[in-house]
Amino acid sequence: MKLAIVKERRPREARVAASPDTVKRLIGLGLSVAVESGAGTRAAMTDEAYAAAGAAIVADPVALLGDSDIVLKVQRPLAGPGGAIDELAAMKRGAVLIGMLAPYADRPLLHAYAERGITAFSMELLPRITRAQTMDVLSSQANLAGYRAVLEAAFAFGRAFPMMMTAAGTVPAARVFVMGAGVAGLQAIATARRLGASVTATDVRPAAKEQVESLGAKFVAVEDEEFKQAETAGGYAKEMSAEYRVKQAALVAQHIAKQDIVITTALIPGRPAPQLVSADMLASMRPGAIVVDLAVEQGGNCEGSRADETVETANGVRIVGWSNMPSRIAVDASQLYARNLLAFLTPLVDKESGALKIAPDDEIVKATLLTRDGAVVHPNFAG
Ligand code: NAI
Repeated sequence: MKLAIVKERRPREARVAASPDTVKRLIGLGLSVAVESGAGTRAAMTDEAYAAAGAAIVADPVALLGDSDIVLKVQRPLAGPGGAIDELAAMKRGAVLIGMLAPYADRPLLHAYAERGITAFSMELLPRITRAQTMDVLSSQANLAGYRAVLEAAFAFGRAFPMMMTAAGTVPAARVFVMGAGVAGLQAIATARRLGASVTATDVRPAAKEQVESLGAKFVAVEDEEFKQAETAGGYAKEMSAEYRVKQAALVAQHIAKQDIVITTALIPGRPAPQLVSADMLASMRPGAIVVDLAVEQGGNCEGSRADETVETANGVRIVGWSNMPSRIAVDASQLYARNLLAFLTPLVDKESGALKIAPDDEIVKATLLTRDGAVVHPNFAG
């Protein structure tokens, strides 16, 4: 079986779907691996390193895609006219595609995979079960995004994070408020604490309270009956009632006016991101305060945030809206993502024959398989 890694061609994507280390291991599974020349450059992975790991280096991505049985990607392939190349059209009929395919954001593409006979797996849909932890791309990428969000905030902020007592006077500790304490939020809390900030955090899931407190931050939330029930069996947040949102907004409004930095990370799978920071809240904040909206791609948690822009409000608050934060820490993000894909692919490869063996009843396969044999098969998208 031939496996291909191509350069990511979507804007602002610096990651790559395999590292020299995972290439070696993929070859160890019995696969023959080819990497497009330059695919890893922006993640500090050179053609020479891939070649030393045993990969063939191929200059022409269209030829490479047309000759491969398995394609590993970071983002969904470009399709149709207008892109640099039509990656989907270049793929072989019946090939397997594995990546973060954003099925909720781009449903038409699912039908295009089916029409082209592609077997497509979307890594964001992995179930949060123990067996899938090593494959969990949302966790590996969100963790780095949370870390990087704090650095972006620190960079934009005209003041220091830690308290400093100097002969010239005392610099107070920055106050950081993290909204959404999932994987990204918890890493943001830990990072801001390490930099010496005074940190508070909020979430709608009751389990988050203890996790926030165990990192040395203070938990701020309306803890009513609805809050106590607000977690799905999968560990995700539910969409909260209008009544809860009003109560929560009132509490947040008082708190946010005193913050220097707000990092928002709140998401609900398959839904637009909840709006947590209103224009009124922004207006109550001090000049020089910074909001980093990690949910900007899903519609944003902060009113007025714009993808890949820093928006300044009339009162001097800046809202930083990098749309692809993991790509801003592309080396580590690629290393971890590549390991996630290796862990996902390993059980799908038959040890004896080196052929792919996709068990349709396997929990992980069922959760991630979008299309197969010319049809959209995932229950969330079929029909
Ligand atoms: P996410 O990226 O879907 O959302 C981020 C955070 O925003 C979540 O904590 C969510 O509760 C919160 N949120 C949603 N609406 C909100 C609102 N209106 N106000 C405030 N916060 C709001 O979540 P993520 O990071 O993927 O984590 C979800 C859960 O899955 C967590 O409990 C995490 O610990 C758990 N998890 C479990 C794993 C496993 O068992 N293998 C692996 C990774 C995460």
